[in-house]
Amino acid sequence: LEHDLVLEGRVVTPRGFEDLEVGVDDGKIVEMKHQGLKGARRIRTGRGLTFPGFIDVHVHLREPGWEYKEDFRSGSEAAVHGGVTTVADMPNNRTPATNPTLLMEKRRLADEKALVDVRLYGGVQAGRLADLKEMAPLVAGYKLYLARSTGGAIFPETELRAFFREASQTGLPASLHCEDQTIIERMEAVLSGQRRADLYCDIRPPQAEVSSVRKVIEALRGFGGMRANICHVSTAETLAEVRRARESGLLVECEAALHHIFFNRKAALEDGLLRTNPPLRPESDRRALLEGLKSGLVSFLVTDHAPHTEEEKRSQGLAGVPGLDDYAHIVSWLIREQGVSPDVIARVASSSPAKFLGLDDRGEVAVGKRADLTVVDIHTPVKASRDQVRSKCGWSPYEGMVFPGGARWTIGEGTVLLDDGDLVT
Ligand code: DOR
Ligand code: ZN
Repeated sequence: LEHDLVLEGRVVTPRGFEDLEVGVDDGKIVEMKHQGLKGARRIRTGRGLTFPGFIDVHVHLREPGWEYKEDFRSGSEAAVHGGVTTVADMPNNRTPATNPTLLMEKRRLADEKALVDVRLYGGVQAGRLADLKEMAPLVAGYKLYLARSTGGAIFPETELRAFFREASQTGLPASLHCEDQTIIERMEAVLSGQRRADLYCDIRPPQAEVSSVRKVIEALRGFGGMRANICHVSTAETLAEVRRARESGLLVECEAALHHIFFNRKAALEDGLLRTNPPLRPESDRRALLEGLKSGLVSFLVTDHAPHTEEEKRSQGLAGVPGLDDYAHIVSWLIREQGVSPDVIARVASSSPAKFLGLDDRGEVAVGKRADLTVVDIHTPVKASRDQVRSKCGWSPYEGMVFPGGARWTIGEGTVLLDDGDLVT
């Protein structure tokens, strides 16, 4: 019997590494053996490590409405370049995706244009909790902004309990952007008139995040089955809150974004393009995120891919950085230079995200699963450069930096999308 495709090499499985042949037919993994598989095509992954396809639960692909920043095609090319085979797209478009009509339009565009599997979040608006049930069939989860960010939506803290009550009926999880808008506004007033490159880090201070996270966790009490994901955790104290919440029995997940785990606030001083919400933090927080990744406290490694053009970043100071193109670069750096083991990567970049999104057909290299596979070569250094960026925004926060490696093959449902480093289009 000849398979459509056979991958041969070192595979990251829940039991560690194994040298295996992975047989793929009709988009699924159908056989795994030490040797003897035959395939119409054989990929020898050499020094590459085969992971379950990376799943990024937090991206902004900007379509419809802001296609000059990104669209489903360009954003998914960036994903393929970074080894990401499934993304979950945030609702803060020009017209936020907060109802079934808008979500259906997004669904149609994604199905037509995307090269990777796109899941959607439904945006939640104040006073519109009745929309939750209507959106449920179209979304992987809900998204709430507790402070103003791109798109400007804000959900009042006072409605959080009502939200959790309603959302817990749907069985879907919620992702929350936690920053305390009141604290941000107070800091804006206190710091007005100051001018320095890292002022933004103080206008949106760590306490704003921690305060907001505490309110979310308090509001979650009593809604036992409800899963809440704290987006892009930036500070050590938030991680401590997440740990306490879990110990008290709440289902709290949390994300670490590439930029928060790679840069500290000194970098924000030197590079004006690194403005994000929440901002970059001191080195001690960066280290805490890294430790949280290793210890299991951090559930998901995300990009928070938030493309803006370089021009509008510089002229309007918009917050957000792209990340999809560099996902595997950062993975290679985490493994080779930060002491993160490949099985931790498989957990935070694939198996936990799959569970969170309700995708039990993926997240592991195993027979019966979808053939979403990412081969990362961690032994062939690559320099991140602008001409490699597939995101329409055309720049990367990591330009000029040399990483231990990157994605070499990206396979989505059995289709080779990145072939020995080259995008297949
Ligand atoms: O920096 C950010 N950019 N933080 C967000 O919360 C939104 C994102 C965006 O969409 O630009
Ligand atoms: Zn975001």
